[in-house]
Amino acid sequence: MKIFVIGGGGREHALIWKLAQSAQVEKIYCAPGNPGIAELAECIDIAVDDLDGLLAFACKEEIGLTVVGPELPLTMGIVDLFQNHGQLIFGPSKAAARLEGSKSFSKDLMAKYNIPTAAYRTFSDRDEALAYVREMGAPIVVKADGLAAGKGVIVAMSLADAEAAINDILVEGAFGSAGSQVVIEEFMAGEEASFFVFTDGENVLPLASAQDHKRVFDNDEGLNTGGMGAYSPAPVVTPELTETILETIVRPTVDGMRQEGCPYVGILYVGLMIENGHPRVVEYNARFGDPEAQPLLARMKSDLLPVLLACARGALEEAVLLWHDKAAVCVVMASGGYPGSFQKGYPIQGLDMAAALDDLIVFHAGTTRREGMVVNNGGRVLGVTGLGTSVADAIDQAYRGIKMISWQDVHYRTDIGQKALRRS
Ligand code: AMP
Ligand code: GLY
Repeated sequence: MKIFVIGGGGREHALIWKLAQSAQVEKIYCAPGNPGIAELAECIDIAVDDLDGLLAFACKEEIGLTVVGPELPLTMGIVDLFQNHGQLIFGPSKAAARLEGSKSFSKDLMAKYNIPTAAYRTFSDRDEALAYVREMGAPIVVKADGLAAGKGVIVAMSLADAEAAINDILVEGAFGSAGSQVVIEEFMAGEEASFFVFTDGENVLPLASAQDHKRVFDNDEGLNTGGMGAYSPAPVVTPELTETILETIVRPTVDGMRQEGCPYVGILYVGLMIENGHPRVVEYNARFGDPEAQPLLARMKSDLLPVLLACARGALEEAVLLWHDKAAVCVVMASGGYPGSFQKGYPIQGLDMAAALDDLIVFHAGTTRREGMVVNNGGRVLGVTGLGTSVADAIDQAYRGIKMISWQDVHYRTDIGQKALRRS
């Protein structure tokens, strides 16, 4: 079968790395891809938001399954478009992707179906929003309603920060139309975890546990990023907690979406805050996590393709997922300055040496090729993923690879996975 993967980051490199191992996969195309992906797939220069261009390509090449990596085409309705043209595609419809695309939609769904989350209110009027945060006090969380590339959330530790965030979003238009409304939420304390399930709209198949590191600097300091590293398994998610998450969060979400007339098909990413063994939803995403996909797919033993096909065809009840015993740790190497502005185009040294190591996979994210050299071209550049007999061992493997790779101003966290060690 011919597969078409949409996206060009570390998540898509990991998906393609895994799909390429399937005996049923004949050829993989990727739009737009990156230099790492190009070693496994044919990269096509079509942007992820050029839905008509992507559809025309899938039809022309007689693609058997299209797999959507990022949220943007999902929230634009790529799944509806492909299905209307008879193309099999993995991902949620436009209506279902509102779980990620609209925080007010997802918060209203959680309220209606009694899914535990932070208390919240939605405002489009600045004065009403200001009055509300003054009444509630800090810490408090201010979020732009729409998609803001992970940057539209301000965890305000003081009232002044909360007021500034409301002004930035509603008055200054810092996030454009994504900020025409703000969601103001209760601050939740606890430890975060990422929980993923495959679903065909009715049946759910949970993945192994994972944890992301969202802040840019060690010890969870600095600004929020798309994710600076991730590991799996995450000991904070015990087997008992997994059952609680499935019963109190995942099933009511999937059932609720079906009852709302927009069944959710694809991979559902639930961002959780866990306090004293009680999970609450921080947010939903309509796609695989990046970088969580890297350690999860590195650990996945089962063939991924039949599971994706079963979701897309509405036949997940028989699917099973097996995992390698090994732990995996992905450390993101980023451009200096990220998540702020940064310089692109620095040649990256040591990629081949690192790739030759056992138990190490170098996933490309923000790279491109210039004059025969691989150079940095985005904020998050590489996802260096180590496998080991324990999280501690996987950490050592990942950092062994990291030490071989360099470019000017490279930045990475040195404490990825340490939270798991502190627990065990
Ligand atoms: P989101 O984009 O909604 O996942 O928010 C980004 C990050 O902000 C989360 O990963 C959390 O670290 C933090 N955050 C969001 N909402 C809350 C909340 N209600 N309480 C505490 N932290 C939060
Ligand atoms: N790792 C966070 C995300 O994918 O949104």
